[in-house]
Amino acid sequence: MSEPVLEARDVAKHFPVGRRGVVRAVEDATLALLPGRIVALVGESGSGKTTLARVLARFYPPTSGEVLLHGRAGTGRRGYHSDVQLIFQDPFGSLNPLHRVRYNLERALRLHHRTRDRRELERQVLDLLERVSLSPAGDFVDKFPHELSGGQRQRVVIARALAVRPKVLLGDEPISMLDVSIRLDMLNLLARLRDEDGLALLYITHDIASARYLCDDIVVMYAGRMIEGGPKEDVIARPRHPYTKLLIESSPDPGRGEDDRAALFDGADELGEPPSLVNPPAGCRFHPRCPFAMPECEQSPPPRTDLGGGHWAHCWLHQKGRAGDLASTTHAAAPALRAAGPADAPGAADDCGDGKEEGP
Ligand SMILES: Nc1ncnc2c1ncn2[C@@H]1O[C@H](COP(=O)(O)OP(=O)(O)OP(=O)(O)O)[C@@H](O)[C@H]1O
Ligand SMILES: [Mg+2]
Repeated sequence: MSEPVLEARDVAKHFPVGRRGVVRAVEDATLALLPGRIVALVGESGSGKTTLARVLARFYPPTSGEVLLHGRAGTGRRGYHSDVQLIFQDPFGSLNPLHRVRYNLERALRLHHRTRDRRELERQVLDLLERVSLSPAGDFVDKFPHELSGGQRQRVVIARALAVRPKVLLGDEPISMLDVSIRLDMLNLLARLRDEDGLALLYITHDIASARYLCDDIVVMYAGRMIEGGPKEDVIARPRHPYTKLLIESSPDPGRGEDDRAALFDGADELGEPPSLVNPPAGCRFHPRCPFAMPECEQSPPPRTDLGGGHWAHCWLHQKGRAGDLASTTHAAAPALRAAGPADAPGAADDCGDGKEEGP
């Protein structure tokens, strides 16, 4: 196994709010990104995904813990961003709207590689556009960002990130604002960058279906904590945390390839709102919504249990020899999980079935 390019070790990020309050947005986050591998970071809104990405990109200093690039904590900002690039959800936000595509890309090339020669710059700009399938590049290089479609703009953003020749790309919901019809193209582009350039990728999404399509490993966040992770197939086929199980069972059918936040979290919403991060529940943050909650779940955060094959989970069930309770609750028994929530959930299980019937 190769060495991680970028690592978070026990990272916490707290934001002060009001006079004394603190938002505990991320706690105890440990994550390693490897060359040629895509990790999907999955979780509902407010679970801390963007905050973690920003800490990884060194836009925020961590409150505690460390972020290591090639095993080192140091390196200046410029040097750091030659290796680590963050792609946001909204491609508008990351391009200079007053300048043409050419300028936006040239700037990155100049800044990070001190390329000055005009012809060399032009060649590299066209080359970058072709790599993200904006072809023929000559048709795009003189356009302003507002003259492009959303998908084309996001490709330019990716081209600009690539101009830097990074080792790591952090994509914060990079496809969620794009038209459904081009999302698959974008995922394929990311997969190509992993395979051809050996990039290490973090793919942030609330959508299990796209994570399942693209990634090698999945890490699930809930209310600021990583609760489960491991190789994609294993996590999806055998989720070992009640929340992951709920996420997977309430996710839309992957065949539809749709990333619809409402659809994905229908089941979760029926279990109530995610907890406040100013006053998070003690112990396991999921315990107020968990049908398996035991006294220890309210008292202390569950330690990590290694489940073999790189699969791990933070859940007291594994520490108390009750893992079987979860394993035996299969899809058919999912209504029991939902019924444990505060709201009644008529036909929740049937809704999943309906999704599969869609189509001609
Ligand atoms: N700068 C900030 N100051 C105070 N609180 C913040 C700040 N940034 C994020 N938060 C809080 O931290 C928590 C995590 O937010 P974050 O944006 O990381 O979640 P997310 O998982 O990316 O959500 P989404 O799916 O909606 O993008 C939220 O409670 C949010 O309100
Ligand atoms: Mg976010």
